[in-house]
Amino acid sequence: MTATNDLLIRAAFKQPIERTPVWVMRQAGRYLSEYRATRAKAGSFLELCKNVELAAEVTIQPLDLIEVDAVILFSDILTPLEGMGLELSFDPSPKFANPIRTQADIEALRVPDPDQGTPYVGKILNLLQKEVAGRVPIIGFAGAPFTLACYAIEGEGSKLFSKTKALFFDQPALAHKLMEKLTQMTINYLNYQIENGAQMVQLFDTWAGSLCPDDYDRFVFPYVQRIFAGIKQPGKVPKVYYINGGSHLLTRMARTGCDVVGLDWMSDLKEAKDLIGGQVGLQGNLDPNVLFAGEDYIRSQVKSILEKWGPQSGHIFNLGHGIDKDVNPDHLRAMVRAVKELSKR
Ligand code: CP3
Repeated sequence: MTATNDLLIRAAFKQPIERTPVWVMRQAGRYLSEYRATRAKAGSFLELCKNVELAAEVTIQPLDLIEVDAVILFSDILTPLEGMGLELSFDPSPKFANPIRTQADIEALRVPDPDQGTPYVGKILNLLQKEVAGRVPIIGFAGAPFTLACYAIEGEGSKLFSKTKALFFDQPALAHKLMEKLTQMTINYLNYQIENGAQMVQLFDTWAGSLCPDDYDRFVFPYVQRIFAGIKQPGKVPKVYYINGGSHLLTRMARTGCDVVGLDWMSDLKEAKDLIGGQVGLQGNLDPNVLFAGEDYIRSQVKSILEKWGPQSGHIFNLGHGIDKDVNPDHLRAMVRAVKELSKR
């Protein structure tokens, strides 16, 4: 089904648009009291991810409450690792009870059929197709293999990901085996999301920004390139590639085969456009902390970002990272309103 408001898809492919589309990473989240109420009903974050009706409900909340131009499947990048054999919990930060550290651990990892590994995801997307009813596009997503490997090896979040780095540097053959399995899982998982209704997909490579360019080339680039080459419906379903702290990797990101590069807020949008805007579209990149300020300041920063890109198509407005749980929803509404008003062609 083509969305009535398909600005997002047109902007991603640099087709003519009437204004810049806007959505927000983590737009269904704790800053919304409505989200907190639904999560309490589900019991926990992980139960919410697996409760088809309630996950669809929180997915749609920001469409009704914030009037964004897209919804993003409510899930987490780490949930598909359960289907590979990892025991996941959230408190609220993620933990794995059985992290991956040895060759035997890697060999034991399964590459499940997504219908078995994450059956609820296909069902949520099917229900979203009915409930969103073509108002806006539905975004699917996955974690990129290196970022998934970071959590799988550490067993939790980390500042340095030192165990991950040690494994990749000391035992590269083993690291490549792990990347291979995660890559295969991710290709299957994203295609399954597209088959079930996702109209754009975003690959989150949050922690790849911690690698120097040579290590990115060795350990990450070939796998990301394979994922984008393996996604069905090229030219129809846009592919977005996001790295947090990836300003030193922009030219590489643009060569992965994605349609759009997602920027964090450390890059200057004008400089990034001059560098890679001829090859790909760009998504971003308001500093999420700007939403702690008042409406006038938010509006001035939205204007500045829109001016950096200019009037052509190819820009999707977003924050440079996920919205913080302490943001006042009225401030996000002010941001969305400013994008819609100030970007009219
Ligand atoms: O964007 C959306 O609205 C879709 C849902 C989504 C979530 N996580 C929901 C979530 C998406 C796309 C993600 C991606 C994700 N998850 C990433 C990549 C993007 C990024 O933020 O860099 C990463 C690294 C994770 C892993 C993860 N999940 C962490 C580190 C945490 C803890 C965060 C915190 O602030 O404590 C989570 C939990 C999580 N994922 C929440 C939500 C709404 C909060 C959990 C809750 O409601 O209790």
